[in-house]
Amino acid sequence: MASSVLVTGGTGTLGRLVVPLLRDTGHDVRVLSRHRPDVGVDGVEYRAGDLSTGQGVEPAVAGTDIVVHLAGGPKGDDEATRVVARAASRAGVRHLVYISVVGADRVPVGWLRTKLAAERAVADSGVPWTTLRAAQFHDLVLTVAGKLAKLPVVPVPRGLRFEPVDARDVADRLVELTLGRPSGLVPELAGPRVYEMGELLGGYLRARGVRRPTVPVPLPGRAGRAYRTGANLARGGATVGKRSWEDFLAERVSAR
Ligand SMILES: NC(=O)c1ccc[n+]([C@@H]2O[C@H](COP(=O)([O-])OP(=O)(O)OC[C@H]3O[C@@H](n4cnc5c(N)ncnc54)[C@H](OP(=O)(O)O)[C@@H]3O)[C@@H](O)[C@H]2O)c1
Repeated sequence: MASSVLVTGGTGTLGRLVVPLLRDTGHDVRVLSRHRPDVGVDGVEYRAGDLSTGQGVEPAVAGTDIVVHLAGGPKGDDEATRVVARAASRAGVRHLVYISVVGADRVPVGWLRTKLAAERAVADSGVPWTTLRAAQFHDLVLTVAGKLAKLPVVPVPRGLRFEPVDARDVADRLVELTLGRPSGLVPELAGPRVYEMGELLGGYLRARGVRRPTVPVPLPGRAGRAYRTGANLARGGATVGKRSWEDFLAERVSAR
């Protein structure tokens, strides 16, 4: 039987990939967004709502069977997730799916603490749930590399590593999880390889055909120690995405 699915964050990098996949499975898909997109996905209903004020959230959730909560930002994901979790609980939603970040429970930085608090809000909501922690998306690494490459000398934090994942692999996994049974905290999802920050940047610079001198900089404090010991990397048993950073660069970046 077709279910009704609400996707928060359905207009974002990840959400834009998840929404058409869900629609193609034959389910009714609704998106909650603060802004109506200029071009929406055919057959998808867009509802206005703001998770930071709660405005429009309960009406958007009402009547849905599944809520896929992908909305997020640099801060406030904990409170926004409490708003979603409360609305889902009141509406009798049967599956609440959440996307978090690898290292949310291990790296002591503010935005990851809010992701961990958001995970708890989902787990404590009383709604059957699934949470997937994903590594950084290639799109995010691309944005950071693009900004760093504008500097005349690029600072590269010493010992900082990532295993970026393609947002399309995350979207595929999320759809599989959404249509499956509520599974709690599932194995983390990361990309096929661990890279030093300098390697990620070097790949980007080569793809752009640009040269930049780099300078190593220390990663200070407790958070720095956590990153240096790889607390932001997926643990054993993680699910591994198919597409590599090099595949992504070949598709998205061309030499000047
Ligand atoms: N990017 C990464 O590397 C990465 C890695 C692991 C996990 N994640 C998680 O994946 C999720 C999606 O990330 P993304 O990179 O796709 O995000 P994004 O491109 O920045 O998009 C953010 C989305 O959140 C929505 N949103 C933000 N504040 C909102 C609010 N107050 N009310 C309603 N909607 C709001 C935005 O919708 P409107 O602007 O249309 O309102 C937009 O659809 C986030 O939870 C993030 O923490 C991201």
